[in-house]
Amino acid sequence: MIASAEELFYRVFESMPRQGPGSVETTQKALDIIKKNRDYIDVIADIGCGSGGQTDVLLEQTNAQIIAIDNHQPFLDQLKGRNKAYGSRLYTLCEDMANLSVAPASCDVIWSEGAIYNIGFKHGLRSWQSFLKPGGFIAASEVVYLSDSQPEELRQFWENEYAEIDTIPNKIKAAEETGLRVIDAFVQPQSDWLEHFYEPMKKVLQSFRESPVKEPNIAVTAALLEEEIKIYEQYSDQFSYAFLIMKKV
Ligand SMILES: C[S@@+](CC[C@H](N)C(=O)[O-])C[C@H]1O[C@@H](n2cnc3c(N)ncnc32)[C@H](O)[C@@H]1O
Repeated sequence: MIASAEELFYRVFESMPRQGPGSVETTQKALDIIKKNRDYIDVIADIGCGSGGQTDVLLEQTNAQIIAIDNHQPFLDQLKGRNKAYGSRLYTLCEDMANLSVAPASCDVIWSEGAIYNIGFKHGLRSWQSFLKPGGFIAASEVVYLSDSQPEELRQFWENEYAEIDTIPNKIKAAEETGLRVIDAFVQPQSDWLEHFYEPMKKVLQSFRESPVKEPNIAVTAALLEEEIKIYEQYSDQFSYAFLIMKKV
């Protein structure tokens, strides 16, 4: 049976070590900021975890129970399969991040790398806060503009992709309007995009093209992803992901 462009999109992402820009160093840096501000971390919900590039770091660098949540079960299967040694410390949940069954006030930390945009930054922060214990933290990465004005082509691209993109000061303001206090924010390095995300993506697309099993729709999937890579390569000084570390006060 011929796979649709959407099925191939998932297959490409299932073949990659992570599904968004990031790195061990970036996850570690955000986690260290929380550790400096909280004596204990017993429960972490990792929302939109994908196949869990960041979850591996959270498992290794904390003793917390981790609830890894995504709406694509194959990503959760990969994560669980790779981390059997952690036993019940890692619990996976296939759910919609807009409608979670996580217990109210049960989490010390909510983690979300490259995923909150799916329900919108401000909406996500508002709804997920209810899962935090008093004084708990949300650590989320979000795409941001690095300056106040952008070339028209880039504006148009993001208008279509994610109109909620904004500058870091405006993201901090948005977070604080939801009642959270922003403890820290930092821009992720270009290596998080190129070395850890787009280089593996290019290799996977190449392997699909060279595969003896020809998928007619791979050209459609590849064209969309390659357009995204081109925009990043052209405008990498204009936008990035920023990590925001926020506290429930
Ligand atoms: C850009 S990926 C980031 C994955 C991972 N955190 C990382 O950085 O590698 C976004 C993830 O959100 C998941 N996702 C998208 N919409 C979702 C929803 N409504 N509920 C739960 N997960 C969702 C996708 O399946 C995907 O794994």
